[in-house]
Amino acid sequence: MSEKKKFYITTPIYYPSAKLHIGHSYCTVATDTMARYKRLQGYDVMFLTGTDEHGQKIQQKAQEAGVTPQAYVDNIVSGIQELWKLMNISNDRFIRTTDAYHVESVQKIFRRLYDQGDIYKSVYTGKYCTPCESFWTESQLVDGKCPDCGREVADAQEEAYFFRLSKYADRLVAYYEEHPDFLEPSSRLNEMVNNFIKPGLEDLCVSRTTFDWGIPVDFDPKHVVYVWVDALTNYITALGYENDTYHDFEKYWPADVHFVGKEITRFHSIIWPAMLMALDLPLPKKVFGHGWLLIDGGKMSKSKGNVVDPQVLCERYGVDALRYFLLREFPFGSDGAFTNEALINRINADLANDLGNLVSRSVSMVQKYFDGKLPETQQEDPMDEELLTLLGGLRARYEGHMEQYAFQSALIEVFKVISRTNKYIDETAPWILAKDEANRARLARVMYNLLESLRICTVLLTPFMPDTAQKIFGQIGAREAQTTWESAAQVGLLSRDVQVHKGETLFPRIDVAKELAALEGDKKAEEAPKKAEKAPKKPEEKPQGVSVIGIEDFGKVALRVAKIVECEKVPKSDKLLRLQLDDGESGRQVVSGIAPWYTPEELTGKKVIIVSNLKPAKLRGVESNGMILAADCKNGDVKVIFVDDAIDCGATVR
Ligand code: ME8
Repeated sequence: MSEKKKFYITTPIYYPSAKLHIGHSYCTVATDTMARYKRLQGYDVMFLTGTDEHGQKIQQKAQEAGVTPQAYVDNIVSGIQELWKLMNISNDRFIRTTDAYHVESVQKIFRRLYDQGDIYKSVYTGKYCTPCESFWTESQLVDGKCPDCGREVADAQEEAYFFRLSKYADRLVAYYEEHPDFLEPSSRLNEMVNNFIKPGLEDLCVSRTTFDWGIPVDFDPKHVVYVWVDALTNYITALGYENDTYHDFEKYWPADVHFVGKEITRFHSIIWPAMLMALDLPLPKKVFGHGWLLIDGGKMSKSKGNVVDPQVLCERYGVDALRYFLLREFPFGSDGAFTNEALINRINADLANDLGNLVSRSVSMVQKYFDGKLPETQQEDPMDEELLTLLGGLRARYEGHMEQYAFQSALIEVFKVISRTNKYIDETAPWILAKDEANRARLARVMYNLLESLRICTVLLTPFMPDTAQKIFGQIGAREAQTTWESAAQVGLLSRDVQVHKGETLFPRIDVAKELAALEGDKKAEEAPKKAEKAPKKPEEKPQGVSVIGIEDFGKVALRVAKIVECEKVPKSDKLLRLQLDDGESGRQVVSGIAPWYTPEELTGKKVIIVSNLKPAKLRGVESNGMILAADCKNGDVKVIFVDDAIDCGATVR
């Protein structure tokens, strides 16, 4: 028998902060879905997650809580593990950086790099951001503050060990050139080269002496290993690199993909590869930097008090509904705005209306017309072809997207078939066929096609909603062999005389207004029902169809050409830029969420198109009068629509 293909996937290891929020769950759910998808395909999967437990920040928090750092992290880590259990996370291994085997490996790695001259002792002078556990040079600071989180940094000067990162700059650039897919989305790669490597990579300070909650350098124990060096090595120590606890390093390394948030791609695409080069180990095949879930335009953070608790949402709507929403609502590489309303609308539209209804209608009809068991005699009809062809090609389309980590697109493909199947019910009108005994074979075939469509769609939904998938298989009478990856490419595999079993409602419809009031403690709960009634049933589906409007509607939008005369980052925001525009009139200010893709310098002097009659709004307290037009690219990038410099400011676009 040929050996199974291997797939090694990781999440970042999480800081044990008191409560993980929905942003952390996002990456873990995505990783879990990918791991389940690869297992479904027959891969031997290693899915690693864990916790990153050392560092000054943890030591400070433990002190504040009056406990030892170890007691502090033990308490929190068990809560994290419970959350992953609740969310049906199927990790194969869970690493804690306080695990003895990891400590041993890190010490060996540090010593080896020192012995071979890749780590040396010197004096560190620079800046340190405690919340991020990051060292910065003066030139990397933004307005004197941490470029990642915008917070104050402290002076730091101490005897320290350094890693010769500078030595690897050329090899890193060469590696990126030879492996253009190494870091995705590709915009993140440009950011790494332009912002970090081109200005000159400096050697990295990799030890600290001002606190002791870390892994001691065994040959110089007043130093502890820099927390990022400690953390990044988890991806190999958890496989048994330089320890005897595990023995599958040879089997799984290099990783197929590290899923990480965009702000930590720098560590994963510069420091980590350079460390691996120094250790003479192969590099991970891919680092995927996913976007953030934003609340009110900003990243969720405990200090801002805007975190969303995944446990609460799982308890209210079910784990699978939340898992589905996270991967359906936002393209994986881009940021997305989380709102309770979007969550509830998505559950109602896709899961209660489209999928849930299809299951319950199909099973109820088989029950009603055939006492739950279809007859073998069935009559085909040319009108079935469109649905069956769509169904037959579904697995390939889905696979194409999943291989690109495009979870949203994969789900859209599945739900296109679910919608088409609901339409098929209307087209075939089984309730009319049922009136005449002569149509019995035809009616049986229609029912069979409904169940068959549900079977294939459900196989492909299994990685996203594992529990729901099992419930649907139970209801439609699919046997195990009919739920495999191979079976999803074969239309007609379900037994002709299949027996269905009516079950519980999968996704009860949610009362939007009531839920919003409950979730948000909204004082205006009484007004909400009216708002909710007016709200379109389906949430806006950007990648799919858009509503049709008349020319008179288009005419209401005043599009004008304007020149960006001044541009700067909005303080304390990762996303927003403030643009001062020459609009051919008295000038105006616009705030735009394009900071992840453009520097102020790249934009200044360019001409763009603006929606000039948009109601003024305040973003992060900064007034915005209009909006500049930009396009969402498939890879998650956003590109501003620039126009010819010859066009006058204020010119109408129509
Ligand atoms: O960075 N939306 O840990 P962490 C999406 N220990 N993702 C989010 C998010 C949000 N609102 N908030 C956080 C660390 N994340 C290190 C990693 S790996 C060797 C060490 C993501 O707990 C964030 O982008 O601060 C990151 O990928 C992950 O949660 C862990 O963040």
